[in-house]
Amino acid sequence: MKIAIVSDIHSNIEALTAVLKGIDEEGISTIVNLGDLVGYNASPAECVELVRQRHIVSILGNHDRAVTRIEFAEGFNILAYQAVVWSAKTLGPEHKEFLEKLQHTRLLWNRYLLFHGAPGNPDAYISYLFQARKVFNYMRKKTPGVRIAFFGHTHKCAVWERDVRGKISKLDIQGDSFHLDPEHMYLINPGSVGQPRQHNWKASYLVFSNEPEIVRFKSLAYDLHTAQDKIRRAKLPEFLAERLGAGM
Ligand SMILES: [Fe+2]
Repeated sequence: MKIAIVSDIHSNIEALTAVLKGIDEEGISTIVNLGDLVGYNASPAECVELVRQRHIVSILGNHDRAVTRIEFAEGFNILAYQAVVWSAKTLGPEHKEFLEKLQHTRLLWNRYLLFHGAPGNPDAYISYLFQARKVFNYMRKKTPGVRIAFFGHTHKCAVWERDVRGKISKLDIQGDSFHLDPEHMYLINPGSVGQPRQHNWKASYLVFSNEPEIVRFKSLAYDLHTAQDKIRRAKLPEFLAERLGAGM
């Protein structure tokens, strides 16, 4: 069994289309979206429609929440805020209804915990050890027996591991794939489809297989120039176009 995990699509239909093509070519039927379907880029309605049509298992991101309830965008930086306001005007009521119904946290097949930033809080980050520890502790208490969680929000690929002694470390994921230890717990981030921030402009996602448990990070080229042109035509901030090219 294989699951494709995508996150932070951020209204980039060109990147999403390329990633779905890659997933389809591998014959993977279960796709999970870890939130932030909209925001920043210029094709929010197209992205919501495609994710809805394809029955992609989706959870709520902080930008998804902010386009339907603008008070949640108050802490955003000015570029993100402007894009949220623009997206809210562009989306139809059916798109907003889809976003409003998304949950913060889901348990897939009783085995895999899914959330955007941290369980129950799409604004929280897992970037540092204390944050990873807090989430592992949450899992041990609230979802005992669940060893693996997938999260997004940072726009960077990451794997946090908790071993049987309780030691937590961030793994070095230089290679494109690695095996999980069946005794350990993991927090795994696929990076971002639509606005990667690891100095590589390509769309990032991952494929998880369960027997044995292997994570494969993927990075695919897409039609970057069209995505940038649309941002400029929509009169969204120029930096949003530039950052896509730089992967930042
Ligand atoms: Fe995001």
